[in-house]
Amino acid sequence: MAFFFVFLFTAVCILVSLAVLLYSSRQKRRSAVGQDQELMLPPGSMGWPYIGETLQLYSQNPSVFFASKQMRYGDIFKTHLLGCPCVMLASPEAARFVLVTQAQLFKPTYPPSKERMIGPSALFFHQGEYHLRLRRLVQGSLGPDALRALVPDIESAVASTLGAWDGHVASTFHAMKRLSFDVGITTIFGGLLDSRHKEDLRRNYSVVEKGYNCFPNRIPGTLFYRAVQARKRLREILGEIVADRRARGDQGSDILGGLMRTRDGTAAALTDDQIADNVIGVLFAAQDTTASVLTWILKYLRDYPKLLEAVKAEQMATYEANEGGKRPLTWAQTRGMTLTHAVIMESLRMASIISFTFREAVADVEYKGFLIPKGWKVMPLFRNIHHSPEYFQDPDKFDPSRFKVSPRPNTFLPFGSGVHACPGNELAKLEMLVLVHRLVTSYRWEVVGSSDDVEYSPFPVPRRGLRAKLWKEEGDGVVQRGAA
Ligand code: HEM
Repeated sequence: MAFFFVFLFTAVCILVSLAVLLYSSRQKRRSAVGQDQELMLPPGSMGWPYIGETLQLYSQNPSVFFASKQMRYGDIFKTHLLGCPCVMLASPEAARFVLVTQAQLFKPTYPPSKERMIGPSALFFHQGEYHLRLRRLVQGSLGPDALRALVPDIESAVASTLGAWDGHVASTFHAMKRLSFDVGITTIFGGLLDSRHKEDLRRNYSVVEKGYNCFPNRIPGTLFYRAVQARKRLREILGEIVADRRARGDQGSDILGGLMRTRDGTAAALTDDQIADNVIGVLFAAQDTTASVLTWILKYLRDYPKLLEAVKAEQMATYEANEGGKRPLTWAQTRGMTLTHAVIMESLRMASIISFTFREAVADVEYKGFLIPKGWKVMPLFRNIHHSPEYFQDPDKFDPSRFKVSPRPNTFLPFGSGVHACPGNELAKLEMLVLVHRLVTSYRWEVVGSSDDVEYSPFPVPRRGLRAKLWKEEGDGVVQRGAA
């Protein structure tokens, strides 16, 4: 009898909990499309109060976390991360809905400490006229004419990066970060930046980076505190550079010049804070992203020796056409590197270093009969789309030949999509083509230790940044190893 009462009590508890859950997930809301509808939140789990499922996300590979959720709940599901309720979207249509067709309903959003660290006036935190004006400016400075003119500078940055690495073991990621920083600096400041300012920027920027992902605090000596101080110093250095240009009466035709010249509808110029935020923003957007993908490219080329041979054959043809590298690489030559380009595209897909992006719903939005409540974070999951067998056959196989055919619309989004899509994508690809050209025509490299584990810094890179030894290859098959 006692057993019967315990059973009855448990059953009633379960039914009451289910009813509460059902009631709380069904909310009558006026959706952004204007109809009064009974809308349900997407399926999913919200985890513990406040911390939600943050611990699960950080205690396992984030890709596994999102992939297992998608398997369980489908292409749209809810969760709760870092104190915020979120809706995850893992289909190409949903990514297009959020980033392109209904972009006005979703604003860009970053944690406040990160926004302050980069600079609140950086274009990617904004929408509307201010965003559009700055975006046009950056995009214009990264158009085909500007890139064509940048090829010699990128070549010399690549030569100096590989030259510094030649003969010893180093973290590929760190070497590539140096390269992408140098290219970022050249793009922003043209050839006009003196070496003292460049080194000051490099030193302080690297302190900012180290504290960027730390818990915000005001305790002197912590990485976060030091990053805040270095950020102030960056602002001062950029103030000096801007003042120098004003004093010379030559603003320059680079990104900084564009930022100094631009005017809004009332003819107002950007303030020096706004200029500094946007310079730091572009550097931030350009550096680790490009460096992570380059690191993956080196790993994949090493993992697939036949592919490396084929890439080398493609690059040697250009190298020989340039009299053994005596004549500089041209923009037109980089446009003809079909196989290398496919390797870059496949590396972007496989590594999906930007696994997702964040937006915030500015109104209640209905999507496919589900409610996305105002204020919730919305995350299109690029990696899940790039690794779906529905869009990429055998998705975990590294196969550049799949890019002989263009991917279906909205299924390949390494550079995002819509109004905030990456304006630096052609520059990034150019940098990769030039690096691969120089690397495979003049060097060999050997990975040291295992390269199969992944670490997050914050983008995924092979463990310890892919430690590798690089040495110059001279003559026909005669390999000269540098001093270890
Ligand atoms: C492989 C390298 C790169 C990858 C994978 C990448 C990826 C992305 C993605 C996915 C976005 C959109 C983010 C979103 O919608 O929330 C973005 C935006 C942006 N990227 Fe890149 N990026 C790369 C390199 C660069 C470079 C080299 C530059 C500049 C020189 C750059 C500048 C920017 C800027 C300024 C934005 C913000 C655009 C806006 O809000 O309108 N990126 N990038």
